[in-house]
Amino acid sequence: MKIAILNGPNLNLLGTREPEIYGKTTLAEIEGRLHEVAAELHIEIVVAQFNHEGDLIDAIHALGGRPAAPGVATDLREKVAGALINAGAWTHTSLALRDALTGVSLPFVEVHLSNIFAREPERRHSVLAGAARGLVCGLGAVGYELALRGLVAQLRAGK
Ligand code: DQA
Repeated sequence: MKIAILNGPNLNLLGTREPEIYGKTTLAEIEGRLHEVAAELHIEIVVAQFNHEGDLIDAIHALGGRPAAPGVATDLREKVAGALINAGAWTHTSLALRDALTGVSLPFVEVHLSNIFAREPERRHSVLAGAARGLVCGLGAVGYELALRGLVAQLRAGK
């Protein structure tokens, strides 16, 4: 089984970005831990981070098994069984992103380091959550690991 780990805008800055909110763990460290968990679970993961919304949408199409349009930027061209996605600020705004995920029927779990429901009003709504298998937020970096274990358990159970 192969799972994609997708991170959206500004998450490349983890480690130094508002550490009082997002912690001091870097994205590379999170991905490193997920590789360890993947080995334990006997699955494969592919990881990618995007600062451009269209690039993430192109990648989702490819991960959902749709042929990429000519000239598409993504280097993720493999079909996966599901995805974890921390869409950063696009979580709160991007119907296009939700449409991409539902458009290719990619099962996904939404992840946030912070508890978005306890933050500024504009962060308290997710346009993705209604289409997600589940949502893990507020647990910091460990939330990615929990989300991966949960998604794999669901998929293995045939859900
Ligand atoms: C975030 C929460 C979002 O509101 C914010 O825009 C981010 C990070 C989180 O992981 O807590 O970029 O998704």
